[in-house]
Amino acid sequence: MTSIANYARSSVGAKHVMAVTGLLLIVFVVLHMVGHLQIFLGPNVYNAYAHFLQSLWEVKWPVRIALIAIVILHCVAAAFLVARNQSARGARYQHRQTFLSSATARAMGWTGLAILAFIAFHIAHFTLGVVQPEAFHHRDALGRYDAYGMYVAGFRNVVLYGVYFIGMALLSMHLGHGAFSWMQSLGITRAEKDQEKAGRIFAIVLFVGYMLPPTAVVLRLVG
Ligand code: HEM
Repeated sequence: MTSIANYARSSVGAKHVMAVTGLLLIVFVVLHMVGHLQIFLGPNVYNAYAHFLQSLWEVKWPVRIALIAIVILHCVAAAFLVARNQSARGARYQHRQTFLSSATARAMGWTGLAILAFIAFHIAHFTLGVVQPEAFHHRDALGRYDAYGMYVAGFRNVVLYGVYFIGMALLSMHLGHGAFSWMQSLGITRAEKDQEKAGRIFAIVLFVGYMLPPTAVVLRLVG
């Protein structure tokens, strides 16, 4: 037990926690993105998908609770590592040179905090319906929750489109770096150059995959 506690309190332990929780969040983000691409298949398919997710409460609630726990663990480990690096002044310079070389890498803390703010806004918007209450929880012709209508109403608003555009740009930057640095943290070595390239490609895929449906809505190609 003591050795587990010591491991969790060590920098290596915290990096492992960040890597594993980060990886789980990436899996969620990719699945969420693929789910929303179904908006191109029309209201019937999209509402059927939303209805399926909403009605599976035995899955929905455990997933919600797990996501909250994973986000908390990820943030606590990040705060711990920042505090450790700041107190270890001698090691700080070397750490920055080796691990935090690019601007994106140095901005990980800020982009992480901005993503937390974005997620809070996003949940207020699409899960709680407080941002656009007039578009929330309507029913479609089959009596299902009209997630398609809510989505379209959301992105007909250019201010909301702008918020998601900025949120997704920051998320892509954060995950583009994070997605492949977990390999370093877990000791799976890979050439740094390849890692950076793969990170950049992943960031572009995420940004395009997430912003394609809202862009189609704002341009009135969908809805
Ligand atoms: C353009 C970007 C995004 C769009 C358009 C979008 C859209 C949506 C929609 C429509 C819902 C509600 C689904 C429903 O009620 O059936 C939802 C829920 C959610 N989204 Fe997103 N999303 C985006 C990005 C993200 C990102 C980047 C994250 C996390 C990093 C995220 C996390 C969540 C969570 C946690 C929920 C709540 C699920 C629940 O109610 O249990 N979303 N999203």
